[in-house]
Amino acid sequence: MNLIAAVDRHWGIGKKGRLLVSIPEDQRLFREETLGKTVIMGRKTLESLPGGKPLYGRKTLVLTRDPDYRVKGAVCCHSVEEVLRAVEGTAREHIFVAGGEEIYREFLPYCRTAHITYIDYVYEADRYCPDLDKDPQWIMDLETEEATCFDLCYSFRRYVRRQG
Ligand SMILES: NC(=O)c1ccc[n+]([C@@H]2O[C@H](COP(=O)([O-])OP(=O)(O)OC[C@H]3O[C@@H](n4cnc5c(N)ncnc54)[C@H](OP(=O)(O)O)[C@@H]3O)[C@@H](O)[C@H]2O)c1
Repeated sequence: MNLIAAVDRHWGIGKKGRLLVSIPEDQRLFREETLGKTVIMGRKTLESLPGGKPLYGRKTLVLTRDPDYRVKGAVCCHSVEEVLRAVEGTAREHIFVAGGEEIYREFLPYCRTAHITYIDYVYEADRYCPDLDKDPQWIMDLETEEATCFDLCYSFRRYVRRQG
């Protein structure tokens, strides 16, 4: 599986149920990477999307502990195990773990690759992605040149799980 996240210098990802910042190029890349694929997200992240609706053109699996929760266009799963059963038979590289914090933490052990938009700034955040720079099991193997969006600097990084 792939993890996909936009993080700040402290690996912050959100505050008060929202993203820290929107970078159009990051959103474009997210769309491009995940279109036609399977996306796993938490109920809170789903509800933070425009109109609280799943993203068009992707199979969305949403995690909730509420057995009565329904959302048009998404499959509700009630445990990590149920998600793993639902993706059986799907190529691992076509599965994207899209947050938020709870979901990143629970699914990190199943991820082999992480696509990280690294924003070189410190925001006030209340949600975080696990810091892969501090995790000896992960190594960054690709990083684009730094780009800018107004006065923000960011780059796209790829991390892979070390073999063995
Ligand atoms: N920067 C980024 O790339 C990025 C990406 C995604 C999200 N975000 C941000 O992250 C924040 C949301 O993250 P979050 O940690 O608060 O919430 P979240 O991970 O999106 O959703 C948490 C919810 O998922 C459900 N859940 C989690 N584990 C489960 C399990 N094992 N079984 C069943 N259901 C489970 C529960 O839903 P119920 O309460 O319904 O039971 C839980 O309340 C927002 O600020 C959002 O903007 C940032």
